[in-house]
Amino acid sequence: MTVTRENREGCLILWIDNPPVNALSQDVRAALLSGVTDAASDATVKGIVITCRGRTFIAGADVKEFGAPPTAPFLPDVTNAIENSDKPIVAAIHGQALGGGLEIALACHYRVAAKGAKLGLPEVTLGLVPGAGGTQRLPRLIDPITAAEMITSGKPVDAVKAEKLGLVDAVAEDHVDAAVKIATSQSIQGRRLSERTFHLDTEKFEALAGATRKQAKGAYAPGAAINLIRSTAGKSFAEGVAEERALFLQLRASEEARALRHIFFAERGSSKAPDDIGDVKPAEIKTVGVIGAGTMGCGIAMTYLDAGMKVRMLEMNDEALDKGLARIQSNYQESVTKGRITEAQRDQRVENVSGATDYASLSDCDLIIEAVFESMEVKKAVVQQIDAVAKPGAIIATNTSYLDINEIAAFTSRPEAVIGLHYFSPANIMKLLEVVRAEKTGPVAVVTALALAKATNKIPVVAGVCPGFIGNRMLRAYVREAGLLLLEGATPEQVDRALTAFGMAMGPFAVADLSGIDIGYKARKEAKPGSFEPMATIVHDKLVEAGHLGQKSGSGFYTYTAGAKAPNPAALAFIEEARANASTTPRAITDSEIVERTMLALVNEGYAIVEEGIARSIDDIDVVYVNGYGFPRHRGGPMCYARALGLPNVLKTVERFGKGAFGKWWPVSKTLRAAASAN
Ligand code: COA
Repeated sequence: MTVTRENREGCLILWIDNPPVNALSQDVRAALLSGVTDAASDATVKGIVITCRGRTFIAGADVKEFGAPPTAPFLPDVTNAIENSDKPIVAAIHGQALGGGLEIALACHYRVAAKGAKLGLPEVTLGLVPGAGGTQRLPRLIDPITAAEMITSGKPVDAVKAEKLGLVDAVAEDHVDAAVKIATSQSIQGRRLSERTFHLDTEKFEALAGATRKQAKGAYAPGAAINLIRSTAGKSFAEGVAEERALFLQLRASEEARALRHIFFAERGSSKAPDDIGDVKPAEIKTVGVIGAGTMGCGIAMTYLDAGMKVRMLEMNDEALDKGLARIQSNYQESVTKGRITEAQRDQRVENVSGATDYASLSDCDLIIEAVFESMEVKKAVVQQIDAVAKPGAIIATNTSYLDINEIAAFTSRPEAVIGLHYFSPANIMKLLEVVRAEKTGPVAVVTALALAKATNKIPVVAGVCPGFIGNRMLRAYVREAGLLLLEGATPEQVDRALTAFGMAMGPFAVADLSGIDIGYKARKEAKPGSFEPMATIVHDKLVEAGHLGQKSGSGFYTYTAGAKAPNPAALAFIEEARANASTTPRAITDSEIVERTMLALVNEGYAIVEEGIARSIDDIDVVYVNGYGFPRHRGGPMCYARALGLPNVLKTVERFGKGAFGKWWPVSKTLRAAASAN
């Protein structure tokens, strides 16, 4: 039974119990509907409370059902029956009231929330708009512009804010008890939201529409939600919900919704322990040591401080240490100024971080992460010193982005405790965490890393050891094609423009300028011969050698003067020179060729990575690229995009590239071939 009934003091309580998150699957909808219908004809029932067992109120429609046609009773049947009830119905909310969960609550006549509850309409994040009155009832309950913001951003509000907005009637310690009291003492007079109307402040709404378009970065659903709200303002509820439902059903079948559902489930899959690890418990982590107080080290430290853990930072001298600690303090101060955290939270986090310059002070740390310079010699010295002082059972993590972790682990006496935790800069903001499992990494280290990712709000992906692991290895293929496109006739600006139009957060040349062109330059000099295509980085190398390192030196592929970005004539001259030396005749390159070449480079490398067992699944590749490399989420990741293109088409194109001048970089993996023939 997913819904059970309890009679308490003349109140019928409908308890939803549908683990893990009380999603509104068909049986829950049916049971809620019959509960409300039965209560109507039961003279002993004065009022009704809808609430949930377990960790949360209803977290939404059952996303698993979205792949198939809707089945009756539909959610609007349930919400309409709730609102039309002549007996008061109260939602008693704890945990999350999301999507269809909030729509149920909005159809109720009153809403009571427990402390810490969150309420929101995240449908746009799944490529949808609410489909059971959410876009119509919310602006009839709270300020319509705030409602539109919630609908178009998908961001939830907490109980305290919800009470201020008028979204909940009360916040109560015992929310179910409070709801029972309301249900048995209040009337429904004036509480049906469908009887109200809403109007928009045009100026504020159009400003929101503009901001939404910008933030959507090519995703369709947020703009569709804006158009829906604009179109239904001032209309009757019946007209409004008819338009809403039609749009919901149209979007439900869209490619974007399919891609966003894919990435939703892929992200949940990537955080599960690998199949070969049995029922192993994670180690308890209370104190984390971080070695290196540079940008990366400080970002990693803040990740753990944000989650309430204690952090000890280690640097070579007091000056470097003080600089790092000051950086952390000023970051938290900035967060207070921006209203992201309270002063008390800042004080707590600053109090939880301490510094040291001697390794012995790391002896009580449960986890020690090194974030020092990317050089095997330096890493060797650091992990050996960690090994000498770390307590038994401590986990030793390296934040290397391309060095061989098997080799790093072998410098210690406990390779089973050594793991890669590859964070992305800024580490306290970026969601992705590559958990790199070396040959001898033990199961406890792996499950602890996954549990820590969850505790610190990261999305982990387990990777094996190879140069660049998953993400940077794919990036290399992508950057290679972008570089070769310059020789063939494209400009950095065209490549960047084509890829941002596709939805990438930034183009590859703008990224190179931002992170420093010299970084890749150094990596190439140290890499094994044959691992890079030299022609692809001729221009990069020339720029570095001429002192154009990117934004930090004021110029790279672009110049940066007084905040204005323009193509760098020096870069264009180096491109001309490289074309002449390579005796290539530049040709007109279309934006779609740019997208095809760079995207299929990612896809082909992605298949190779799975084939070699570096990634556990095709889905994990998408999780990495969406969360660490600015790939447009609404396209579901490069592998999902490839499926949308049709894998037989992808295979044909990759084979064609394999016959070109740089065909050696396009070996077709067996996995791609098999996937294309299974299509
Ligand atoms: N439908 C079906 N399954 C859902 C679901 C939904 N709406 N929301 C969560 N789940 C499943 C997850 O797939 C996961 O299943 P698994 O354990 O088999 O992998 C499980 O519930 C727990 O979810 P998870 O996200 O890992 O838990 P959490 O505690 O970190 O977060 C939520 C809980 C509710 C905040 C989060 O799951 C969420 O945001 N869900 C989506 C809400 C939503 O978008 N609703 C609107 C749908 S239109």
